[in-house]
Amino acid sequence: MTGPELTTALLPGQQLHELLAAARSAPGLTPARLLGQPALLVTRYADLKAFMVDETSFPGGPVYQFSVEPVCGPTFISMDGEEHVAVRQQAMPAFRSRPVSRFIDDQLLPLAHEVVDRFALRGEADLVAELSAVLPYWAISRKLGLPVGSEEKQRAVTRALLAHVADPAGAQRAAGAIDDVVRPVMEQRRREPQDDVLSQLMTAGMDEQQVLSHVRLLYAVGATTTADAMSNLFRNVLTRPELVARAAADPAVVPSLVSESLRTEPPVAVLPRLATQEAAVGNTVVPGGTLLLAALAGGNRDPEVFTDPDAFDPDRDEAEVLSFGVGPKFCPGWNLARSQLAAALTVVLDRLPGLELVEAAEPQGAILRATPSVRVRWRR
Ligand code: HEM
Repeated sequence: MTGPELTTALLPGQQLHELLAAARSAPGLTPARLLGQPALLVTRYADLKAFMVDETSFPGGPVYQFSVEPVCGPTFISMDGEEHVAVRQQAMPAFRSRPVSRFIDDQLLPLAHEVVDRFALRGEADLVAELSAVLPYWAISRKLGLPVGSEEKQRAVTRALLAHVADPAGAQRAAGAIDDVVRPVMEQRRREPQDDVLSQLMTAGMDEQQVLSHVRLLYAVGATTTADAMSNLFRNVLTRPELVARAAADPAVVPSLVSESLRTEPPVAVLPRLATQEAAVGNTVVPGGTLLLAALAGGNRDPEVFTDPDAFDPDRDEAEVLSFGVGPKFCPGWNLARSQLAAALTVVLDRLPGLELVEAAEPQGAILRATPSVRVRWRR
């Protein structure tokens, strides 16, 4: 079993989508590799929906026990079954729709304006470097209850945490750096709880180690995915002047632009699963121990489900997109992420009149996918 190594592949622009389309129309599952390991790509919408809910044969936990647990400690991402449900419920109430709406209005929108203030008078900017690489990092700190620090430092710590497999010592240092920020805030929250995730975790019956582990997890996964999705959103909208004009005139279309951007360029394009026993994925039976690559980006463009799937059409109202996953591990941060993306685009359109594209790079990456730059100008 050979096939392309996806770990470091850039596959810019249409290249990823052509590879996934070829896999989708080939019989069975297509070979690929991840971190040098042989794997099988799952690209059809129906197959993805069916196999990702099968927690007995394809549990989500084992991959994260390898990639996340050694640096974050035990958190619900590396658990399955009843334990996963119980700890996830304990950890995530602050991400339900009402607290998220309150957070967006009271904290995120002012933060978005503060970021835009830094360049609004200049008349030109790279929206990726100056907005999507900043706001989600500030936002996750604020949501957790941590001080909003330098975004460069936050990005470096997050990158190091997520690179645990390649650099375990660097990841441990990053985890220690987060704990050093969290511990004094925990002291304050113990005396005076606030409306933030840290206070909520501390009153949910977790011990100090569990709280630190969950803060590390949310700090690491909450900002990067949102930042990548925001870069893809800016590219998808700014390369289509008719959509910029439409959204500026009618902000009600913004949530549909967010959905269509997440469908066509999901920031988590492919995610791994391990088969724990012999089981079927679509019409293919795979042995226990098989590494599967769930190509969410492939399912999102399956012509069996989406009409003219490569077209960017915010007016489509078809199936649910797969970008936040499927089944028990469906992203608990989806609401915060979607609201944050919509708020960022709304603030940009509101604050930067006559906004137009100068130049945009193509989205790249076969596992995590982002747009490196979207340079724009506007009337000062
Ligand atoms: C556009 C932004 C985001 C995207 C595309 C995204 C995507 C995903 C996907 C595909 C999964 C499923 C993983 C799997 O099945 O193995 C997932 C899970 C998860 N996401 Fe997100 N995510 C985003 C933002 C966030 C945010 C803002 C947070 C938290 C603050 C978050 C926290 C998590 C956690 C903790 C899990 C694990 C869930 C579990 O084990 O039950 N994500 N996300």
